[in-house]
Amino acid sequence: MIVLEKLRKRYGDVLAVDDFSLSVARGECVFLVGGSGCGKTTTLKLVNRLVECDAGRVLLGGHDTRETPPYELRRRVGYAFQQVGLFPQMTVAQNIGVTPELLAWPPERVRARVDELLELVELDPARFRTRAPDELSGGQQQRVGLARALAAEPEALLLDEPFAALDPLTRDRLQQAFAALRRALDVTVIFVSHDMSEALLLADRIVVMDAGRPLQVGTPRELLTAPATKVVAELLATPRRQTEAIDKLIKTGTKAAP
Ligand SMILES: Nc1ncnc2c1ncn2[C@@H]1O[C@H](COP(=O)(O)OP(=O)(O)OP(=O)(O)O)[C@@H](O)[C@H]1O
Ligand SMILES: [Mg+2]
Repeated sequence: MIVLEKLRKRYGDVLAVDDFSLSVARGECVFLVGGSGCGKTTTLKLVNRLVECDAGRVLLGGHDTRETPPYELRRRVGYAFQQVGLFPQMTVAQNIGVTPELLAWPPERVRARVDELLELVELDPARFRTRAPDELSGGQQQRVGLARALAAEPEALLLDEPFAALDPLTRDRLQQAFAALRRALDVTVIFVSHDMSEALLLADRIVVMDAGRPLQVGTPRELLTAPATKVVAELLATPRRQTEAIDKLIKTGTKAAP
């Protein structure tokens, strides 16, 4: 469904994405994880051409995205980015409905879709529909961003830390809603996250990135049981280390040494 072929992007003397190749199957959810600045956001932006690559190409459903008209790309690929980027002069409902409007859905259908998505991201439509983005908390803005990404029923989703600003309980519920949604919609997802538990629980495959390149690609189980490097092993061991430290705290009342 999504193929990245030897993608490369340079900013000055920084090679943000370096010969990156990856195939994502229809319906698959692939996570990009790795340290800050390793090129995750840039990779996502290359996929939907918010940023143009210096070399390589992206195929969507077998077609080069450079030959796909922008409106078509917008319809087929939903995206929610790290800096949420809601349109400040529009209401919540207008933000979510922006792509359906562009696609000339009937107003009644747009309204119904907006309410359905607000329910999904746990924002009461009656309270939030007419708010402006600057009247929302960071986590609420993030949820509106996710709703906007889903609005036009895209074939592919690009999500950059979509749950990062949420409290743990809301995050947990939205992660479960997301898992159910994926099963129902058969949508193809590239998901960027710093949260290893989230990656291990939601991903079909995980790409561990370093300096613009994939260090290792595999299922969560493959990466946990056969990490290629120490960096991969340590990164993926964090959730378990935390759980063990919490267990120890419960059992002995002592905190693990950092
Ligand atoms: N517009 C830009 N101009 C110059 N350098 C940039 C630009 N965007 C990104 N970079 C650089 O490219 C590299 C990769 O950035 P990118 O945003 O893709 O990282 P990331 O993996 O998403 O990091 P984080 O986890 O902190 O979000 C970084 O070194 C960053 O400073
Ligand atoms: Mg980023």
